[in-house]
Amino acid sequence: MIGVFDSGHGGLTVFRALTMRFPQLPFVYLGDHANVPYGDRPSDEIVALTRSGAEALFRRGCRLVLLGCNTATCVAARTLQKDWLAVSGWPGRNILGIVAPTVEAATQTPWAVTTPQYPQKYNTDTIAVFGTTRTIASHAYPEEIRKRCPKVTVVQQTCPELAAAIERGAHDASLDSLVREGVAALLAQTDGMPPHWAILGCTHYPLVERLFRLHLPDFTRLLSQPQVVADSLEDYLQRHPSYAEGAAAAPPLLLTTGDPTRVNTTARIFWPGAPPFRHLGL
Ligand code: DGL
Repeated sequence: MIGVFDSGHGGLTVFRALTMRFPQLPFVYLGDHANVPYGDRPSDEIVALTRSGAEALFRRGCRLVLLGCNTATCVAARTLQKDWLAVSGWPGRNILGIVAPTVEAATQTPWAVTTPQYPQKYNTDTIAVFGTTRTIASHAYPEEIRKRCPKVTVVQQTCPELAAAIERGAHDASLDSLVREGVAALLAQTDGMPPHWAILGCTHYPLVERLFRLHLPDFTRLLSQPQVVADSLEDYLQRHPSYAEGAAAAPPLLLTTGDPTRVNTTARIFWPGAPPFRHLGL
């Protein structure tokens, strides 16, 4: 069984893409709705909450857990992979994040390559990153992009209200003005120069991808995480088939630390026809 952990609903955009790409594999989703949002929390809290979520999924039999949340990935993935997993008493398990596949796609460089190679060494693209306050403050995207492409300019922009507005099911007009403001603030940083790429670095944002497309210059290519992450997991499972072995197909299971009735109502915004959430205490 493969687990996907998220602070709440946003990871459903990635989860849904994975269940469509791998219908033969059993997936379980855990949304930490009791503690959402993570985007403005202190880092140590995000690390502790993400660790509890990963452990809960390991206890349910997952050997591979994907963090379907940029905030959790930027703040907690490295600490959990390097400092916790090795001594955690969960041997043979792994945790993956969603920054790696996104950076790979934006830089056209494999994650394992951490020193600049030709031709990326001479890449002078501008890459825009939109995300939560904590994702942007972590500088995970600029650091990882510049390791591979030192001449690339990375411009970051928070959209502080946007994830909450999407979850509230806010009307198109308010979502449109939040995206327009975010894009305008970003373009103010580049003196109006259109970026080559825009990373929608929050798993809520694919739901308003069309609005980003509308307000960003036509020249800018959008990076949509659900597809990029599904491509990357396919490649990972080819290289590490043991994580998919012995797993019989089963309908996707959705778990929440919150109140399933309330969570199910909002889940319909993210995934019309989603299976119902069940409660899981951590
Ligand atoms: N969707 C999450 C992300 O990708 C953020 C939501 C939250 O703030 O918890 O960063």
